[in-house]
Amino acid sequence: IPVDDFDLVLFGATGDLAARKILPSLYRRFVAGQMPESARVIGAARSKMDDKSFRKLVRDALAEFVSEAKRDKKTIDAFVAQCSYIAIDAKGEGGWEQLKEAVRDEAVKAFYFSVAPALFGPLAERLRSYGIACENSRLVVEKPFGVDLESARQLNADLAASFDEHQIYRIDHFLGKETVQNLMAVRFANVMFEPLWNSRYIDHVQITVAETVGVGGRGAYYDKSGAMRDMVQNHLMQLLCLTAMEPPNHFDADMLRDEKLKVIRALDPLTPAEIVRGQYREGPDGPSYVEDAENPESRTESFIALKIAVSNWRWKGVPFYLRTGKRMSRRLSEIVVQFKETPHSIFDRTEGSPANTLTIRLQPDEGMDLSVTIKEPGPGGMRLVNVPLDMTFADALGPQGEEIPDAYERLIMDVIRGDQTLFMRGDEVEAAWAWTDPIIEGWVERRAQPYKYAQGSSGPEEALMLMHRDGRRWRELE
Ligand code: BG6
Repeated sequence: IPVDDFDLVLFGATGDLAARKILPSLYRRFVAGQMPESARVIGAARSKMDDKSFRKLVRDALAEFVSEAKRDKKTIDAFVAQCSYIAIDAKGEGGWEQLKEAVRDEAVKAFYFSVAPALFGPLAERLRSYGIACENSRLVVEKPFGVDLESARQLNADLAASFDEHQIYRIDHFLGKETVQNLMAVRFANVMFEPLWNSRYIDHVQITVAETVGVGGRGAYYDKSGAMRDMVQNHLMQLLCLTAMEPPNHFDADMLRDEKLKVIRALDPLTPAEIVRGQYREGPDGPSYVEDAENPESRTESFIALKIAVSNWRWKGVPFYLRTGKRMSRRLSEIVVQFKETPHSIFDRTEGSPANTLTIRLQPDEGMDLSVTIKEPGPGGMRLVNVPLDMTFADALGPQGEEIPDAYERLIMDVIRGDQTLFMRGDEVEAAWAWTDPIIEGWVERRAQPYKYAQGSSGPEEALMLMHRDGRRWRELE
């Protein structure tokens, strides 16, 4: 179903994210018939170039980042015909009158800030003062949304000076991932999970976002950030919130975000014993972290594992173990809900753990599986085994081989539809920083050194200990 007619102004149109994610996602929605023929994508950046050169840049991005099956010349020609370009001086006056001329009042106007956060304020201010933005306009802002509470507050204030909160869409692309939305469907559209979803039946929750890439090429940004700011404060925190939150009264942007906010506010401060930080060593796949970061003295973490307590009735005594890192053995993102064992076992022999596990896989192979214990088939007596009740979305939904839409496709269309449900609200981001800040300050003060770990591993040994000493184990990454 096509969305309403729109003009999307993409600031930072010549940047990496635009090429890798935003333009390909718009194109895929175009292919899917969701982008109206009259809709327009207006690239904006500092470089001087004409429409023709911008269209070439769009073509190059599509050639590199869209699968061949979706690319044919006619469709690409039609898509790029809807793209144009205006050179804009974010902190000056160049290009703004031209932009005002270009955008239509009768269409939804979306302004996408795929630029450094320092430009959010000046861009928002000019959109307002040149009379380009109106009540029906939407602002999309990319991460990082601040580096601490103070900077996030400042960014919120800069945006609030020109736009209302209901017009601001803060992207956390993890929220656009199909499985993340499915987690809410599973929890709140089925009768059988919610009664068990508490400390009485759940032993612990593990959230893993493991990556095989290093930080080479973006070391300058990453070294100031580290895994805590780059991944935990935003993406893993969102996964934790959706797992732990109370059912909202309605699937509505503010009600959902109210519930997530309550979770963040219920997080206990962490002690040093609940944090393990790591840095990858030199390895077969590339240089060490400190070389990638070009900072031999760096104490920034490329891996972190945390044990978090959510202090409320539902979760008392149920630890949430989080871990994320670069250059690990495989790319895997999943939420594992580990249920408790039955109160009493009437059987003698069980292969593996008799407890149920619900695994929500974000990537690869998006899907969920619920491990259940059954009798091993055959005449060998009452021997129990764990088997998965598997639901891989690619199999369960759509024709074979259909690509699951990229998170950005969903999120950009939500912006045009005016649906803020999968975007972070200002107070939520601030609350996440308020919890994160003292943790980071703690290790900065202690001048804590991250442990070294081997590339292609599951992080430092100490991260294993974080769970072992509680008598639990991380799920194997292999
Ligand atoms: C980004 C982080 O927000 O998310 C990157 O800055 C990380 O460091 C990326 O690699 C992971 O996203 P995805 O969608 O590839 O899992």
